[in-house]
Amino acid sequence: MRKQIAAANWKMNLTLAQGEQLLDEIIAAPHSLSNNQLAVFAVPFPYLTMAQQKLSGKQNVFVAAQNCYSKKSGAYTGEVSVEMLQSIGIQYVVLGHSERREYFNESNHFLAEKVNICLEYNITPIFCCGEPLHIREADTQNEFVGKQLEESLFHLSAGQITKVVIAYEPIWAIGTGKTASNEQAQEMHAFIRQQFAAKYGEAVANEISILYGGSVKANNASAIFAQPDVDGGLVGGASLIANDFTAIINALK
Ligand code: 13P
Repeated sequence: MRKQIAAANWKMNLTLAQGEQLLDEIIAAPHSLSNNQLAVFAVPFPYLTMAQQKLSGKQNVFVAAQNCYSKKSGAYTGEVSVEMLQSIGIQYVVLGHSERREYFNESNHFLAEKVNICLEYNITPIFCCGEPLHIREADTQNEFVGKQLEESLFHLSAGQITKVVIAYEPIWAIGTGKTASNEQAQEMHAFIRQQFAAKYGEAVANEISILYGGSVKANNASAIFAQPDVDGGLVGGASLIANDFTAIINALK
């Protein structure tokens, strides 16, 4: 059965002290993670070790990096390798967030290389996809997202693809307070799952967790997560508020 996941993406926010306090508050709050549910915290690189220490021993709770480089090691000043992440016990990496695609020119093909190296090191990519507003307005979002999946993921084997988590994040809904409607989210998630079913078969497609991202809040998470093809969320702004992210964890189905 596929996992239901509440993933926090802190982006480039918080000082170390603020991050520690946020995690302390979330840990202290009552939550109920069943066997099939995970909470993941994608924190800035300098806080990975702190987060690992604070969350160690917590059942079904993981720390993620927000990015990694596509090469094993070498003269790539300023970059962080998957081997480094693995060496500190990190098991998840967010890849291809729309902010990385937009501000750092990350292409579908470049992301395919990052996906490959993560899987080589047994790290789960949380692979982000999603269309900008003009594509949604032209009603070509399926073609756009389909191409992102095809160019970054469809070279993988069936055994590999079930190790990838997908996050569908319509760019027009990120940080705008404008959420995709429950129907729009379900429609796109079902489309994504169909793409995987066509390529790898239904049984494989049903094993893949597909998260929704874009203005997920404490008060809309339950309704979005209740959609049959939505397996949780990747959360920006609301993940920086302990009560809100706790409520989002508790909204997992
Ligand atoms: P917001 O929840 O702030 O809209 O951000 C979504 C996002 O980009 C998560 O990766």
